[in-house]
Amino acid sequence: MRALTVQPLKAGSAEVLEVPDPEPGSGEMLVEGLALGICGTDREIAAGEYGWAPPGRDRLVLGHESLGRVHTAPPDSSFAPGDLVVGVVRRPDPVPCGACAHGEFDMCRNGRYTERGIKEIDGYGSELWTVDTGYAVKLDPRLAAVGVLMEPATVVAKAWEQIEKVGARSWFQPERVLVTGAGPIGLLAALLGAQRGLEVHVLDLATDGPKPEAVRALGAQYHSSGIDDATARAEPDVILEATGVSPLVFEAMASTASYGIVCLTGVSPVGRKISVDVGAANRDMVLENDVVVGSVNANLSHYAAAADALAKADIGWLSRLITRRLPLDSFAEALEARSDDIKVVLDLTA
Ligand code: BGC
Repeated sequence: MRALTVQPLKAGSAEVLEVPDPEPGSGEMLVEGLALGICGTDREIAAGEYGWAPPGRDRLVLGHESLGRVHTAPPDSSFAPGDLVVGVVRRPDPVPCGACAHGEFDMCRNGRYTERGIKEIDGYGSELWTVDTGYAVKLDPRLAAVGVLMEPATVVAKAWEQIEKVGARSWFQPERVLVTGAGPIGLLAALLGAQRGLEVHVLDLATDGPKPEAVRALGAQYHSSGIDDATARAEPDVILEATGVSPLVFEAMASTASYGIVCLTGVSPVGRKISVDVGAANRDMVLENDVVVGSVNANLSHYAAAADALAKADIGWLSRLITRRLPLDSFAEALEARSDDIKVVLDLTA
């Protein structure tokens, strides 16, 4: 079979190679790969900036945003051939730490977790893949064209859960959310905000094209004239940051109302220095009971929440988020970020 592989920490090493078909072990199913979503993490790995090969090997099969169809499943499992499935990204650390022992591997405390397609385990960027039935989630069959959005939706489902858990420390009835960034994470965060009945505002740099169109089609308000203007208009109770642009992150932290919650989901590049008035930031956070919470990855409960959110969403709206779909062999083109991209997807059947 063909697999998209990369030598981690070696820029430009991504290559589609012919590799042996995987054999499902006990408790595993064999899945035919349908689609693979490409995100910033994949681009960082391909650029040699991140990623770990499996122990004893040079190359890693790339890809953590999966979608596939079950080919064979253990007879005693809840899966059957033909089911539409997504594989979970992270696996608990081997110790395991307390969080991993409680199924909260997204909150791993010792950093020894592994991640498919990112950290020490092959990913889902191949024509066939195997997965333990305990780390796979069945999707509504109607989601065949858009189910590849599941993994970013799980990241967003976790971010919303974190916001709600933080909010629940006192009386909490948010009305307005500002999402910064109209990429896949931002737009899916906006969707889950709208599903919660909130007034949703989205800020991005784009002034036209698929991003503002998707925001408006959701019934949300689109802003492109900077964070100050967006926060003045939106008066957000919650800011969900999905750009990782460092100055914006600090401006977001300074712009919430009292009891403001800022949830950070964007991974910034390191080494960029900005000047910040830390005293003012500390003072505001204390005097306003503000919280800034970082959120990464997702556990099985977030996969279940994301599957529900996607099943409730309008499929036509979800399809708008997939702005480029390319055959597997065009991986190099898929790995180039373009300014009007929302989600780029590789078709593993082509
Ligand atoms: C993935 C997460 C993962 C993180 C760090 C993100 O792109 O969506 O599942 O935990 O990268 O490796």
